[in-house]
Amino acid sequence: MSAKKYDRQLGIRTVGLREWNGQDQYNRYEATPYEALERLFQSYRFGRNDRLVDFGCGRGRVTFYVHNRFQVPIVGIEAHDKTYEEALDNKSSYRLRARHIQAPIRLKYGLAEHYEVKPGENRFYFFNPFSHKVFKKVMANIVKSVETHPRTVEIILYYPLPEYKRILQGHSFQMINKIKVPGGQDFREKFLIYRFSPPAAG
Ligand SMILES: C[S@@+](CC[C@H](N)C(=O)[O-])C[C@H]1O[C@@H](n2cnc3c(N)ncnc32)[C@H](O)[C@@H]1O
Repeated sequence: MSAKKYDRQLGIRTVGLREWNGQDQYNRYEATPYEALERLFQSYRFGRNDRLVDFGCGRGRVTFYVHNRFQVPIVGIEAHDKTYEEALDNKSSYRLRARHIQAPIRLKYGLAEHYEVKPGENRFYFFNPFSHKVFKKVMANIVKSVETHPRTVEIILYYPLPEYKRILQGHSFQMINKIKVPGGQDFREKFLIYRFSPPAAG
């Protein structure tokens, strides 16, 4: 099924690219392919108590897809003003079709590295949104939150970069799954799932 068709089913518009002008730390908008999401969720699930943060949510493809499929609360954070406005438009049109799903969707305009991670948030999604320097800051915020409120957390990386992997290993995250996208043209077209469980969280 084409991306536009998937979009129509959700009542959103997420196809296309948007470059940043003069921002070398922040990567362009490009949505995770729907086929990749379908593959990911053949082997990965969100449970009732999970809370997802989509860092660099763009127009919200992952946010709305996951909300629709798993009905869990989600926060999407986006720093590009036009892209953020498009995500808000998508939320309005998506919500017309998904009134029955009670879980909240919060879209926040701002920098991922300034986001204060909330105690219940335990799943974090990254499709290569920014440089590893920014990722390091975001990970420091996640680790700080886990130290203050011990819990198991998982990081989902799509199109993982080696520097991201090194940062996660440096924080003692363990890779628990690798999911390749069938027909991918590039070896990075895969998901890596990392988990951190502090001793207190069991
Ligand atoms: C590759 S897109 C991924 C979009 C979405 N997560 C998905 O997978 O469909 C990365 C997004 O991150 C945003 N971004 C880049 N740097 C950011 C930052 N520091 N804080 C928040 N968003 C950022 C970009 O504007 C872009 O929309």
